[in-house]
Amino acid sequence: MTDNRNLEAAWEYHNATKHSRASVRSNPHFLDWANQPSPFKIYATLEPLPMPREVRQTGVAALSAIAESLPAQTDAVPDVETLAQILYLSAGITRHRKYPGGEIFFRAAACTGALYEVELYIVCGDIRRLEAGVYHFSPGEFALRRLRGGDCRGTLSEATGGEPAIAHAPVTILCTCTYWRNAWKYQARTYRHFGWDNGTLLANLLAAATALGMPAKVVCGFVDEDVNRLLDVDSDREVAFSLAALGYVADLPQQSPSPISALHLETVPLSRREIDYPAMREMHAASSLHSAKEVAAWRGNTPQTELLTPTGPIVPLEPYSNEEMARDPIEQVILRRGSSRKFAQTPISLVQLSTMLERATRGIPADFLIPQGAQLNDLYLIVNAVEGLDPGAYVYHRDRQMLECLKAGNFRAEAGYLGLEQLLPSEAAANIFFLADLQSILQRFGNRGYRAVQLEAGILSGKLYLAAYAQRLGATGLTFYDDEVTGFFSPHAEGKSAIMLVALGKSAKARI
Ligand SMILES: Cc1cc2nc3c(=O)[nH]c(=O)nc-3n(C[C@H](O)[C@H](O)[C@H](O)COP(=O)(O)O)c2cc1C
Repeated sequence: MTDNRNLEAAWEYHNATKHSRASVRSNPHFLDWANQPSPFKIYATLEPLPMPREVRQTGVAALSAIAESLPAQTDAVPDVETLAQILYLSAGITRHRKYPGGEIFFRAAACTGALYEVELYIVCGDIRRLEAGVYHFSPGEFALRRLRGGDCRGTLSEATGGEPAIAHAPVTILCTCTYWRNAWKYQARTYRHFGWDNGTLLANLLAAATALGMPAKVVCGFVDEDVNRLLDVDSDREVAFSLAALGYVADLPQQSPSPISALHLETVPLSRREIDYPAMREMHAASSLHSAKEVAAWRGNTPQTELLTPTGPIVPLEPYSNEEMARDPIEQVILRRGSSRKFAQTPISLVQLSTMLERATRGIPADFLIPQGAQLNDLYLIVNAVEGLDPGAYVYHRDRQMLECLKAGNFRAEAGYLGLEQLLPSEAAANIFFLADLQSILQRFGNRGYRAVQLEAGILSGKLYLAAYAQRLGATGLTFYDDEVTGFFSPHAEGKSAIMLVALGKSAKARI
């Protein structure tokens, strides 16, 4: 058994998967198009149960939906229409594009390389028009397939060490990640992408749940083997990464765990052959939890990493008020979203930037962020073109709602370089870099903290995407040169690790 407390494992994985100028140039990897993995998991023998397709208009402003959540103990049970809508707005196919070699089915949330390695499953009791069971969600057909009948929530509750949100949830959405589907392009760095891509999906899920009146909570602590067994996934290929408890029933009779047998369900191979990257499986094993007791002790007590008191020039945020802000509803904004492929080099306003930062960072309901409002990542910015803000490097003081200037100057070229020598970050109005004090996070959460910090960055990025598109701006996630990002923001960022990057601005081609 590997040990979550042996922190060497996370450091080893993190250091081995850093991008640098040298590592990118010396990597002989190329894309084997003939062996491209299918973006869909297909169960060969199970009948699909079509889901209702009507998109209900919630009318809830995206900028409210991403910023707010319902109190955890709000009684609410999703019906199948609500569940369908949440699945659609999180992982549904929202557009497709043909190209000479095939077709890309783009989904509601951004995902590295449009490879969509995150699969969704449902564990529920009886809800209106859906019997208790364990289901797989097929975005291609917009259908569920029942893997197991009966109420398995007791097993899930036990696997999460009695996490209250799961124990009281009528429905839990389980997110798994499939190594090969993303590693085909990104090799061993894919394990970081699990957090990012699962995170953007969860940002949509949380916003959709809020708009539909459902409390929701992200749960990262669970006994891995028990959840993987419940979903009957081949854990050398696909692993449970996060859970999202949906709804709440105060007096839910507690179920006892049911015996879980192997299902031996046939699934269609993703590719002719798969390449294994053992570093990821090792990282996963080293961050796995093995007992309900270990899980119960794992959650909560988030390390509070306070930023140094500002010493540089400060600029208070000036977000739009509720009355002034754009009121485009969440379902419209999710359908409009798509990563900017080119930014117009025109400025955005400080009010727009402030609104994105303030709304995206109001707190995430998650078992690793307690007290609610805690955050693992710090946000550092390269501002290229924001009216009311001098170009330069900044750090965001969330508690004080202000930006501190670390160095003034035009850093467009540096932004492009740090973002793996791509044009997008140099053309964007602002780049948000997520950096975290991995040392203290791993100290508190063990290797599992590595999953949590990547997942949180993904959720925050997903919220930033939605906050941008709500204001008819654009956004894109980006990858980066790890150590050079830290170097650029140092001495302030000394000792921190680069976790993720999002560029914001006006898209050259606006979506309607
Ligand atoms: C974490 C993350 C990193 C990304 N990195 C890059 C990148 O380095 N370069 C790029 O052009 N696009 C990047 N993207 C954008 C994806 O390619 C895009 O999300 C995907 O093609 C799906 O398209 P959509 O976002 O328009 O739906 C990234 C997206 C995410 C979520």
